[in-house]
Amino acid sequence: MIFESILILTMTLTSINSVAIGPEPTIDGESARHYDSRYSIFDKPYTVDFKYHNYDKMSRFLRATSLRFQNLTALYSIGKSVKGRDLWVMVVSSSPYEHMIGKPDVKYVANIHGNEAVGRELMLHLIHLLVTKYGSDAYITWLLDNTRIHILPSMNPDGFEVSKEGFCEGSQGRYNARGFDLNRNFPDYFKQNNKKTQPETEAVREWVSKIQFVLSGSLHGGALVASYPFDNTPNSRLCRSAPLCAMFQSYSSAPSISPDDDVFRHLSLTYSQNHGSMHRGEACSPSQRGFKNGITNGAEWYPLTGGMQDFNYVWNGCMEITFELSCCKYPPAEDLKHYWEENRVSLIKFLAEAHRGVHGFVVDENGNPIERASVKVKGRDVSFLTTKYGEFWRILMPGIYKLEVYANGYAPRDIEFMVIEQHPTLLNVTLHSTKVL
Ligand SMILES: *[C@@H]1O[C@H](CO)[C@@H](O)[C@H](O)[C@H]1NC(C)=O
Ligand SMILES: *[C@@H]1O[C@H](CO)[C@@H](O)[C@H](O)[C@H]1NC(C)=O
Ligand SMILES: [Zn+2]
Repeated sequence: MIFESILILTMTLTSINSVAIGPEPTIDGESARHYDSRYSIFDKPYTVDFKYHNYDKMSRFLRATSLRFQNLTALYSIGKSVKGRDLWVMVVSSSPYEHMIGKPDVKYVANIHGNEAVGRELMLHLIHLLVTKYGSDAYITWLLDNTRIHILPSMNPDGFEVSKEGFCEGSQGRYNARGFDLNRNFPDYFKQNNKKTQPETEAVREWVSKIQFVLSGSLHGGALVASYPFDNTPNSRLCRSAPLCAMFQSYSSAPSISPDDDVFRHLSLTYSQNHGSMHRGEACSPSQRGFKNGITNGAEWYPLTGGMQDFNYVWNGCMEITFELSCCKYPPAEDLKHYWEENRVSLIKFLAEAHRGVHGFVVDENGNPIERASVKVKGRDVSFLTTKYGEFWRILMPGIYKLEVYANGYAPRDIEFMVIEQHPTLLNVTLHSTKVL
C-alpha cells in the first residue's frame, strides 16, 4: 500500500532525525560523558506529567514513547502546520505499522482550536495509559489487539503556542497561523464552503482519505457536551442528494437529523454517561444552556459550515463526535488531573464502540476483494465504500437491517442481516460480475 510505505519512510526519517522534534533534554557535564541520545530515555521512568506540553515537549514525549514501545506504537507525521510544525500522529495497537485486515482503525483529533488545551494533554495521558496497561489489563489488551488507535494530539500546534494558560474564554490561539478556524475549513455537505483550504486541514483530508477510519472523536473545550452530526442544515440549492435533503428542515437551531441519528446518540451517550460529570448536562454558566444527558445535535446547538465531523461522516463513512471537555478552554495545569479522571473511562469506552454493528468483506466470485463497492443500509442514505481489501464497517444498534451492495460491473445485491448487542455481525458478500464472458 503506497500510503503505508510513505508512513514507514516518514517514521524512519523522524527517528533518525532528532532535529525535527527539537533537542534532547539538556544534560549536565557529568552525564554528558555517558550521553547517548538513543538510550538515555530508558534511564528515566516512563511518565507523563499533569503539566502542559508545548510543541517541543509533546514531540519529545511522543518520540520517547515510540522508542520505548516499539511493538505497540508508531509515530508518523501527516504534514506540517503553517509554521512548519509536524502534525504528529501516534498509532497505538498490537499492530502499529500495518492495518489489521478486518479490524477497525479509529482516531482522536485534539486541539483543532489551539487554545482548547485539555484534549491535547488528555491524549498524551491516553497514550501513556494504553501502552503501560497492555498485557496487564484485559480490556486494554483486547482493545489494542483488535483496533488500531490513531491519536493526533494537536491539529493546530501553531495556535497552541500562542495560547495562554488560564485563559478560559476568548479566541487568542484558536485559529491557525493564518487566522483560519480549522473547524470551519472542511468541505461542507450542505453549503458551499469558500474558505481557502489550510495546510492543517489538507493534511487531515489526505490522512482520512488514505485510512478507512470507522470511528472518531474530535476534542474541544469551552463547554461540556458531546455533539453529533449534522452540524449544518441544508441549503436546498446545493444539496447533493435530493432524497436526503428532503428529509431535513432548513431553519437554524432546529436539529439537523442524520440517517444514523440513533447511532450518533448512542455514541454520544456512551461518552457522556461514562464521564464524571458530562451526563448531568449542567450549563457552564448562567448565560449558557445545559444539555439533556450531556449530548446535543450539532445544528440544534448552533449550525456551522465546514466542520470536521460532518465531513468525516458524509465523505469518509467515519462516525465522528465532537466532545467539549471543559468549560474553561485552557484551565490551569493543576486541574488537568481532574479532567483526566473525568474522561479516562469515556475515552476508552467510546473507541470500543467501533466493534458494534456489522462488518465484513465484499468479494467477487473468485473470492477477490472488490474495492470501492458502495455499501448502504436501507433507510440510511449515506453510503460507505469498501477498502482495497473489500472491507466495510457500519456501526448499528441491535435490530434487523438490509444491506444494499453495489459495484460497477457487478449485479447489485440486497442482504438482510441482524445486529445483536453482544458482538458485531460478520457479513461476507459475494457479487457476481455482469460481464458477458
Ligand atoms: C517485540 O516483537 C518482537 C517480534 O515479535 C519480539 O521478538 C519482542 O520480544 C517484542 N518485544 C517486546 C518488548 O514485547
Ligand atoms: C469472510 O471473508 C474473509 C475475507 O475473504 C475471510 O477471511 C473470512 O474467513 C470470511 N468469513 C466467513 C465467515 O465467511
Ligand atoms: Zn473548539
